Amino acid sequence: MNMKLFTVNDEFDWRMKVFDTIPYPALILTPDKIIVSANRAFLEKKQTELENVVGKTCHRVFYNTDEPCSPAICPFSKVIAEKKWQSIIRRVEYEGNEEVWVDRMFSPILDENGKVKFIMECVRDVTRVITLEKRSIRMRQFLDKVIQSSHNAIVASDMNGHILLMNQAAEDLFGFSMEEAIRTKNAENFYPSGKAKEIMKHLKSEDFGGKGKLFASRIDVINAQGETVPVEMTGAIIYHGEEEVATTGIFYDLREKIAGEKKLKEALIQINRSEKMASLGQLAAGIAHEINNPLTGILLYANLALERFDKADPLRKYLTSVIDGTERCKDIVKDLLAYSRQTSPAKETFQINSLIEQSLTLLRDQKRFLNINLVKKMSDDMMLIRADKNQLIQVIINLTMNAIDAMDRKGTLTFRTYRNKPHRKVYIEVSDTGCGIPEENLSKVFDPFFTTKGPEKGTGLGLSTSYGIVKENGGRISIKETSSRGTTALIELPFYTPDEITAVS
Ligand SMILES: Nc1ncnc2c1ncn2[C@@H]1O[C@H](COP(=O)(O)OP(=O)(O)O)[C@@H](O)[C@H]1O
Ligand SMILES: [Mg+2]
Repeated sequence: MNMKLFTVNDEFDWRMKVFDTIPYPALILTPDKIIVSANRAFLEKKQTELENVVGKTCHRVFYNTDEPCSPAICPFSKVIAEKKWQSIIRRVEYEGNEEVWVDRMFSPILDENGKVKFIMECVRDVTRVITLEKRSIRMRQFLDKVIQSSHNAIVASDMNGHILLMNQAAEDLFGFSMEEAIRTKNAENFYPSGKAKEIMKHLKSEDFGGKGKLFASRIDVINAQGETVPVEMTGAIIYHGEEEVATTGIFYDLREKIAGEKKLKEALIQINRSEKMASLGQLAAGIAHEINNPLTGILLYANLALERFDKADPLRKYLTSVIDGTERCKDIVKDLLAYSRQTSPAKETFQINSLIEQSLTLLRDQKRFLNINLVKKMSDDMMLIRADKNQLIQVIINLTMNAIDAMDRKGTLTFRTYRNKPHRKVYIEVSDTGCGIPEENLSKVFDPFFTTKGPEKGTGLGLSTSYGIVKENGGRISIKETSSRGTTALIELPFYTPDEITAVS
């Protein structure tokens, strides 16, 4: 190739002077990668003279080899083919082990026919830029990890409510992936209607934690299933200078905490109830014993006296009242004794379905069953329990009587049995279509002597006795559901598996 070597002294091309003053190393090369000129910055960097580089290939000068660099690291052929500048950023090790990054830019210089005649290569040290960029990426990744690792749900959105970011806990709480939320949701969708606007108002006000901040408050959010979830929320506006650019919300799911508190409250009520029942039980047992003997005497003598009166005698009426009243006292004493019963249960193994059958056999002929529609939904699963059968029959009878009273002796009475194998529990439900238990009585129905039935009808000992019995047999009794449409009482007992039975017998 007819090639003229340019030097800074060539007057014909002032452009060479420009080239020479470029503050970073630059070369001019032929399309064959032969250096035709190098600028001052290059020579200073390499600490060499122009004569030592001109005429040599760039790979010889840079890497001291006759092997041209691969297109992967040298875009030379691409520049020639496309006649457009290309740049490539690479890590090089110039000085020791220090990390140095250079941006090599290749620009084509075309001849009058539009062909690439020369290529100018500029080498810029971009170590600082790259290091900063890498540091900022690392920082971003670290911040991302901090946000992701938070147990609290974090959501950020722009000032129009478009979601910008959600961490894993937020995805779990709301039930959307961040991508889905970014595409299809607005922060408003996360709250009950009108709440998002109220939060924004509070955020912008001075009165709820200061301007741009919202101190922790208990609110409800709405998840993907449309369920209301109680949370504690704190919020903030993110400013860029004076400008409001985004908002963040941090949410703490309160469901577990609330459930825990409820359990604790229930446990306290139970302890309270047990204590009350224990002391009342002792008292009742004492009184019942004392009263039982005189009552037997009254009944005996009243009956003897009755026999002495003539059939037509008006005094007979009074005596009959005495006898009825005494009978009722005896019933109450019997209930009291049952309530305060101190014997330990006599355990046997049986199917819970037989419990319902036997209770019903005892009750069936009663007049109060006449207008009751009886439904039995008994599971065929193996449901053996080990318990005092007679005591539990008494419980079923109590629940049945209550159900019938609540329905005013007409309606549907349903017995249901089922089991939960993994939890090793069997269940008996007694449901009625009666009047239900008012909210304010729910905590009292298991209390001894609590009754709404009036002194003539109820003793208020049915449920409290049942409670004690079920507990003694290792189970629990509760009101599962109650409303104006009826009530379901639930007994839950531990079940025996056949191999345990073999082991026992
Ligand atoms: N199935 C039911 N439906 C409505 N109320 C009920 C039911 N079971 C119990 N109760 C309420 O609980 C109270 C206590 O019941 P219990 O201890 O059996 O006493 P008693 O039946 O003697 O009143 C009843 O007086 C009634 O108010
Ligand atoms: Mg009762």
